[in-house]
Amino acid sequence: MSDRGSGLADIPADKLPRHLAIIMDGNGRWAQQRGLLRTSGHDAGAKTIRTVTTECARLGLEQLTLYAFSHENWKRPQREIDYLMRLLKRFLIGERPTLAENDVRLTAIGRLDSLPDAARAALDETIALSADNGGLNLCLALSYGARAELVDAFRVLGTRIAAGELAPEDIDEALISASLYQPGRDPDLLVRTAGEMRVSNFLLWQISYTELHVTDACWPDFDVAELHAALRAYATRTRKYGGLVDAPRDAVGP
Ligand code: FPP
Repeated sequence: MSDRGSGLADIPADKLPRHLAIIMDGNGRWAQQRGLLRTSGHDAGAKTIRTVTTECARLGLEQLTLYAFSHENWKRPQREIDYLMRLLKRFLIGERPTLAENDVRLTAIGRLDSLPDAARAALDETIALSADNGGLNLCLALSYGARAELVDAFRVLGTRIAAGELAPEDIDEALISASLYQPGRDPDLLVRTAGEMRVSNFLLWQISYTELHVTDACWPDFDVAELHAALRAYATRTRKYGGLVDAPRDAVGP
């Protein structure tokens, strides 16, 4: 675990989330409040990704999963989609030195085949270039929808059953988790910016026991102080996973 420096020095390392997931919302509102085009909000949002990724790497988090483009975002006006895809390509190429400096490994989840060729090529190359980095896993959810992820997982399992490799009774929670786009640790903390109280089809299976933190700050304003406030709030939570904490043995029953 890295030196946590000022702001979080009093929080024990085991009170920080190992996997942080973020619904980055409010780029459009941030721009609107300043009389700017929505695209300026997306530009500012991309800069925030660098700030937050660098700080999460410095703090020694294992994974940061960012909802960068949802399955539903394809319904936006084509001009905005085109802008976001060009920005994604620029971002993926421009961030390569920062990923290397901070030992960050890029990965992605979602229906990546839906991305335009240029963005997909930049994604594949950045993933390959950063594959040996051993620090933070920065996972971008792109063309991602949690229901689509479950549909894709069930199709794989159904195909295996039809091929006789698997029996229906072999399906359990561990096998479903292992069939998702990127099996691994579920998020410990889910942050949503811009104040909306919903999960918007993000990681629905994986967030069953995840702690939630919603801030009114729009994503471009989500700075290191906002990140620290979210981590500080998480550190105060008692995670029970439906059980009891410090319950006397005989209070649990048979
Ligand atoms: C929502 O703002 C944000 C998104 C569409 C996803 C996040 C996108 C970025 C941070 C842009 C850059 C991303 C990459 C990976 C280069 P919104 O437009 O929904 O805001 P609003 O709800 O205020 O309109």
